[in-house]
Amino acid sequence: MTEEFDEISPNELTDNIFRLIGDEWMLITAGTLGNCNTMTASWGGTGILWHKPVATCVVRPTRYTYEFLEASETFTLSFFSEEYRKALEICGKKSGRDGDKFEAAGITPVEEKPGLVSFQEARLVLECRKLYVHDLQPDHFVDPSLDKFYPNKDYHRMYIGEITRCLVKRRS
Ligand SMILES: Cc1cc2nc3c(=O)[nH]c(=O)nc-3n(C[C@H](O)[C@H](O)[C@H](O)COP(=O)(O)O)c2cc1C
Repeated sequence: MTEEFDEISPNELTDNIFRLIGDEWMLITAGTLGNCNTMTASWGGTGILWHKPVATCVVRPTRYTYEFLEASETFTLSFFSEEYRKALEICGKKSGRDGDKFEAAGITPVEEKPGLVSFQEARLVLECRKLYVHDLQPDHFVDPSLDKFYPNKDYHRMYIGEITRCLVKRRS
């Protein structure tokens, strides 16, 4: 896979992160090639914490992907061009518990390094090492109206990962 991708420093990323995550969406993937899962996400962010480049994502404990995130020390965030919108919709609707999502979505998982599964079709991949996890707690909602996002009380777990590698698809 790396033949098709160039490694850049997170400082060199030119994508607008609000559009990247909020509008284009991403796949959060954890596990190993033979035993991994992925899901679509549109909430999260990037920034600097503890002097490190970090990426944050939030995952409800009801997601199958949550189990893989819990069992893994690492995860990836993969971003795609617009032609993969349908694939991201599938990965955001179907659960890996119910069948092979990769096949349904037509995307090819590749394991760059042990425990770092991303996709051949991605245009940008952030490889992350878990630094910090935290369960969102309703009694910490300064704005109590946020509780409307949790009718089932399945509060997200927040994962903050150090971005250990940032891979950008080479233009052909
Ligand atoms: C656009 C979009 C964004 C989503 N963002 C999130 C998110 O940030 N966190 C989350 O827990 N679920 C999010 N989801 C829902 C999961 O992707 C969805 O429940 C998925 O089927 C879980 O798959 P899994 O059970 O295989 O992990 C989103 C879904 C869509 C379509």
